[in-house]
Order: sequence, then C-alpha cells, then structure tokens
Amino acid sequence: MAARDATAREGVTAWPQHSMVFGADYNPEQWDESVWAEDLVLMRDAGVTMVSVAIFSWAILEPRPDHFEFGWLDRVMDGLAEAGVGANLANATASPPPWMGSRWPETLPVRADGTTLWPGGRQHYCPSSPIFRRRAGILTEQIAARYADHPALRMWHVGNEFGCHVPQCFCDVSAAAFRVWLEERYGTLDALNDAWGTSFWSQRYHAWEEIHQPRTATTWQNPTQQLDHHRFSSDELLDVYRNERDILATHTPTIPITTNFVTTTRRPIVDYWRWAEHVDVVASDHYLLVHLLRPEVELAFCADMSRGLAGGEPWLLMEHSTSAVNWQPRNRPKAPGEMMRNSFQHVARGSDGAMFFQWRQSKAGAEKYHSAMVPHAGTDSRVWREVVELGDALGRLDEVVGSRVEASVAIVFDFEAWWNAEMDSHPTDAIRYRDLAQRIHRALWDAGITVDLVRPGAALDAYELVVVPTLSIVSDAAAEVIERFVADGGHALVSYFSGIADEHDHIRLGGYPGAFRELLGIRTEEFHPLLEQETVTLDSGATADLWTEHTELEGAEAIASYADGPLAGGPAITRHAAGSGVAWYLGTRLADDDLAVFVDRIVAEAGVHPVLPELPAGVEATRRRSGPTTFVTVINHTDDDVSLPVAGTELLSLRMGDHHTVRAGDVAVIRERIPTPVESFGV
Ligand code: GAL
Repeated sequence: MAARDATAREGVTAWPQHSMVFGADYNPEQWDESVWAEDLVLMRDAGVTMVSVAIFSWAILEPRPDHFEFGWLDRVMDGLAEAGVGANLANATASPPPWMGSRWPETLPVRADGTTLWPGGRQHYCPSSPIFRRRAGILTEQIAARYADHPALRMWHVGNEFGCHVPQCFCDVSAAAFRVWLEERYGTLDALNDAWGTSFWSQRYHAWEEIHQPRTATTWQNPTQQLDHHRFSSDELLDVYRNERDILATHTPTIPITTNFVTTTRRPIVDYWRWAEHVDVVASDHYLLVHLLRPEVELAFCADMSRGLAGGEPWLLMEHSTSAVNWQPRNRPKAPGEMMRNSFQHVARGSDGAMFFQWRQSKAGAEKYHSAMVPHAGTDSRVWREVVELGDALGRLDEVVGSRVEASVAIVFDFEAWWNAEMDSHPTDAIRYRDLAQRIHRALWDAGITVDLVRPGAALDAYELVVVPTLSIVSDAAAEVIERFVADGGHALVSYFSGIADEHDHIRLGGYPGAFRELLGIRTEEFHPLLEQETVTLDSGATADLWTEHTELEGAEAIASYADGPLAGGPAITRHAAGSGVAWYLGTRLADDDLAVFVDRIVAEAGVHPVLPELPAGVEATRRRSGPTTFVTVINHTDDDVSLPVAGTELLSLRMGDHHTVRAGDVAVIRERIPTPVESFGV
C-alpha cells in the first residue's frame, strides 16, 4: 500500500514506539485525589504504558476566561512520570466550558433547522467561530507552554472525535465561512453555478451573499450544494484541528500530534482521507456493534479502514471498550476472552497498541454505565483480571511493533461517495454505502483474505484484486487508475451504482456506469431498483435484492442473468477481459451465501491466496511483516480448538513448533520460522 501522501511534519519522534501501547482515557479530575495513587499502582500492575489525559478538562483548567488552574494537572502529570506511564496529553478543547456559551452564545452550533445546540452535552461549538478558535488557541498555548518539557509527555491529543456530534454547523458565521470556502474553490460565480447545476429550479446565483448552507428547505436541496457543504464542514473542522496542532508543534516540534478518528459510524463525519495527511499517527476509536450477528467482522473492516488511512503504516487504536458501552440500544457486555480477541484483531490489522475508553469507570455523568479498565466492582472482577492478562500479552509483542500488514486485495473506499450515495432523490433510498463494501469484505474475511481499504486514485500495483463498491461519484483520474490496473493484469470487481457521476455529481452521459462502462464492457440504460422485500432469482440459482438494472453487453460476457423479475434474461453479473486483466461487474445485491460463491470465484481467478490454507470458519489470520520476519496472528472466534500449520514461535507462550493449537476463543501470534537456504531451495 502506498505511503500516506502526508504533509507529515519532519523530525517528529519516531512512531511507532518500541513496545505496544496499552492504556486508556484517564479522567482523574472526576475523582478525589486520594484515588490517584491507587490509579498509578494499578496502572503498573496492568502494564499500562500510556494514558490520554485532560480531553474534557477545559472547564476545570480554565474556570473563568484567562484564569488557569493547572495545579491538579501538574500533579497528575508528575505522578504519571514517576510511575513510568506516558501521557497522551490533550489540549482540552473538545468541550467548551459553560462560560463560553453563556458569554458568547454565538459560539454555539446550529442545526439545519435553526435549532441552537446548547451546553449540557459536549462538543457544543461552531468550528467557524472566531471566538471559539481564539479561546481554543489560548488554552492550547497555555498547555503547550506548560507541559512541553514534561517527562511524561509522549503524544498530543487534539480535541476529540472532531465532528462526531456536530458534523455541520448552519449558523450565520458558518454561512459566511462557507461563502469564502466556495469562492476559493470555484473562483467565480459562473463556475459555482455550473458545478451546482443552478439552471435547475431557478437556483442561479448572481451574488455570493445569496448563497446559504443547505438549511432546512421546502424540498430536496441542490445535491452539489449538499456535497460541498459536507466538504466545507470537514475542511472547517480540519482547520480547527490544524490551528491547534500548529500551536503544539511550535512548542514541541518532535512530539507526535494526533486526534482520534471514528470508524464505527453509520454516517461519514468528515473526509478522513484529507484528515489523515495532517496527523503524525493515525489514531482511531472503534466500538463493537453488539446487535450484529458477527461484530468481529465489522471490527476487522474498521481496523482495515484505520490502516488504510495510515497508508499501511502502523496506527493506534485510541479507544475501544473493555466490556459494555452505554450508547447502544441494548448494551451487552463482552463475553470472557472477547476483549482480548478484539484487541488482538486490531493489533493483527496494524495497530501498535490497544487503548480504551476509559481507565476508571465514572460514578457520575452520562457515561457511568460504560465499562472501563477499572470497573465499578473494582479489581476483584473479571474485567480487571482480563485487563491484566491483556497488558501482559501485549507486553510480549515488542518485536511486532512497526511491522506492516500484508494484503493482496484492496477495496476502494471513499467518504465523498459515501455522502453522495446516501443522498436524497436517488433511484432508491435504500443504498447504504458501507453495506456492500462490508458484505464483500466479510466474504473475503470468510475466505481468510486480508483486505486494504484505499483512497480512490491510490496506486494499486500491490494488489491482485481491487473491489469498487457503490463508488457513485468518481473523478476521471481515479477511474483511470482502476482502468490501468486492469489493463496491466489486475482483476477489478465493480458494483452497481458506481461511476455514475463526476465529482460535482453530474451524471456521466451515454449510459451507466459512466466512468467504468468501457472497462466493464457493458452499457446500462435504466436502473430497476427493487421494492422493499422484493427479490429476484438469477439463472445461477442465486437470490438478489435491492438493485437491478437493464444492462446490455458491449464486449463483456454474462456470468449470471436474471431468471425472473422485470429484467428476466438480462445480465446481472458480467466478466470482461480487458487488456491483460479482468473487469467484473456486479449489477445487483446478492444474498450473502451467493456473494461468497461469487467472491470465491473471482479470488480464484485473480490468484489471491488466503493468509493460511484451509483456515477453519470463524478463525481469523493475518500476517504482519518487518523485513524478512513475519508474524501470523490467529484469532479463534469459535468454540473449538484449532491446530494450524504455521511453523515458528508463538510469542505469548514461547512455544515452538510446526503446528500451533489455538484454543477456543483464544489468540496466538506466531513469529514464522524463516526457512534455511537449504529448505528454501528444496534440497
Ligand atoms: C467515544 C468518545 C469517548 C467516549 C466513548 C464512549 O466516541 O471519544 O469520549 O464517549 O465514545 O464509547
């Protein structure tokens, strides 16, 4: 996978570190100081290496504007340093103190319908507000100056999950900033009018002042305006991050700076491809979605996304949970061993550590029912015992730190297409961008194949197979990269509702799927989305739902056709030999079992091999490489012990052998034995 095209800062302390990071958000301000000493003892007992401090401390650090109280944080930082625990120190701007909203109500964010979002929760700020930015800058400056040389400082944590509660602000200040952003993007009103297609419905603008955000309107709003407002809002939040980051960087040019991305989300918050260029370490938060049948597979998808954002380099799992969370409809705790498996899944997929929200379970506030490393029950608890076990296990993986995950399949994943694919007034309102990407990822997971998530336009030469699910909007340049990949011998699987429009969301005329029509050797005249509950059958016996389309072959062959429904006889899945490669088209949504059969076929033709041969169902294996040394991580999600033919040393038990048994529900990390020259030449 190509390295991040980062504007990464020169001279930042080497990331990754020398050992796996283990720790949590640490919120000592919620506790009496008498508890802090015990915290430090317990952190040592558990093998904690780093904690994130002061993320939500603004109101305590700055009780009145320009009046700072750092004494308590000094004592926390000193204690951590003495205990040998590093601090991922926040600049504490994630949640403004109540005085901000009282004194400057114009800093509060506003929804599309004009509702002001008041203090009482968190993240209640308008990212465009000059007052908020100034106040956040003052606080950041104070913290940076005070702790720049503190021995506990390892990393800076800017804000928290930018945009997770307020991805877009619709206030007047934001409106003005939006206009400036648009002027920079388009230069002239004519260019904007063209891009937004404002000849439609009398929307033509004659002055910049006439332009608003897509506030609540009579009916469907201009789609390009909506898309641009998402882009603008992402950029605006990124600006907030960068302003604060730059202050920190001035004080500590070598300390890595990051913020935590959110991968478990049903809506795209910001465009993380753009954000990833501006963090020194990609850090992300993942929470298990317990209503899913196989939440561990969704976890794997998110971990692969984090690694993709890191350009294949190691990243850091900044938050997950030891057990239940508080924000899902029903908050199931984790089963014994599940936390270990989850943590190792992330490590197996490139994280150089596992951190949690949070260290000590709160006794008050909205998150008091959210699990933590030290639960309400105290240390005589299963959660604590498993925490200690996990700390011990991660402590045995120093040599894995810095290694990179190997993958020969990529999924092209895009936050802009995600915004676009789920917009209103489309052929169906039932497309969920992540749905198909995750289904195909799951089929590959079941086949034991590791997948990278890559940005549209990213170099693809490292892969045998590239999957392009529901990439509804795509630039010419990004489409060309996929075309070239196939011409050069790769296999590409493109799905329905891909390549339809350009980056302005203007349809590519002449037949769908526009940008990929020639590559796929097909031409679609009309979409036939299916009604709720409606299914169709293919002549292969497969069942499909959600989407069908009237496709003509223009060079491709039909692999499967519709056996019934309005398009009976027409192609549903096609294959097109193009250049020295093959372009496959999936024009409908196959049932999971049928998708698995189809994916297996492509995988076989593309010559993609699983990480380990004949991996039993429910057993996950990935490989990380560091020079000639490789590490296979095995996670056994089943109720049966498995024995796998991996020769080498298992790092948790130090057992050596040509086979390793991984007990039901357990994990293993095997440093593979490097064959001697005699063995490799088969002498
Ligand atoms: C994250 C957030 C944490 C905490 C956690 C609970 O989204 O960053 O502060 O709220 O969720 O699951």
